[in-house]
Amino acid sequence: MAEPFDIDRFMDSSGRVDLSDIDWSEVPKYPMTPEALRTLRYFMYTEGSTFFYTKALMKTKAAIFEPDLAPFLCVWMYEEEFHGRAFRKFVEAYGEKVPSDYRATMFNRRGAGERIDEWGQTVLSRVFPDGWPAVHMIWGVVQEFTTYQGYIALVERTGHPILATICQRIMKQEMKHFAFYRDQAYKRLVNNPAAQKLTSWALKTGWTPVGDGMCSKEDVQHSIRWLFDGAEGGAVDKVDQKMREMPGLEWFDLFRKYVTNHNIGRAPDSWFPRPRSEFNKSVVAVTSGIRQRNKAESGDSVDTADAA
Ligand SMILES: [Fe+2]
Ligand SMILES: [Fe+2]
Repeated sequence: MAEPFDIDRFMDSSGRVDLSDIDWSEVPKYPMTPEALRTLRYFMYTEGSTFFYTKALMKTKAAIFEPDLAPFLCVWMYEEEFHGRAFRKFVEAYGEKVPSDYRATMFNRRGAGERIDEWGQTVLSRVFPDGWPAVHMIWGVVQEFTTYQGYIALVERTGHPILATICQRIMKQEMKHFAFYRDQAYKRLVNNPAAQKLTSWALKTGWTPVGDGMCSKEDVQHSIRWLFDGAEGGAVDKVDQKMREMPGLEWFDLFRKYVTNHNIGRAPDSWFPRPRSEFNKSVVAVTSGIRQRNKAESGDSVDTADAA
């Protein structure tokens, strides 16, 4: 495991993603495909729905009694909100209008699973007051890691220099979120067979990829195809592999099962604004830039090589 998460260092370096130097007028100069824009909207909706998910966590005993949880939740929600706003600004700079009530629409249209989840979580957190926070934390691990992989793919597949800069800054924060959840989940699962059992049951029963529930199933599946080439790309197994490192989750194969069950395969070349042969170029620069900065700051308790 990486070194323990340092909440004070995290709080000191927290804040909204700084986009003050972005020249938004440059955004439309680099073409995007309709399929790429659809994926960007998926990121915007997913980032913008983070605060819905904090409700259940805030009701847990752990959020009140454990000193690291409340500060993390405040920052997490704040930073994620600005990720959503960054995408909204980008999409609008490209020339697409985003309705101001998009969040209300998303909430009203949320899937049945999401609604059941809301009361189900309230009940389960009362039945398992000690084990349930482990479930939340493991959800954070898989969703943050998937999101991080999504950003790598977004940079790689669009080749849009301004989007790459925005993503690079967001990814740095995502990595810290991931590190927090991984640290928390690990502590709660290691040497705790009951928590491992409960977490495994919850994942097998209720896990779906990040964004599912708030976004339509079609948009989620489109984005997984666009970003990862579904079952034919490498990112899906990377996520499953990362989860198998957690105590008691050596069985984890849910992302692979999801893409197989939904027949999500390779995206057509026409979906991308640039040839596949160029995919690798900008992503190497972006991820190595993040690694160098994290190393230089050296305070981040994030194993960047691990996350990237
Ligand atoms: Fe985010
Ligand atoms: Fe995040």
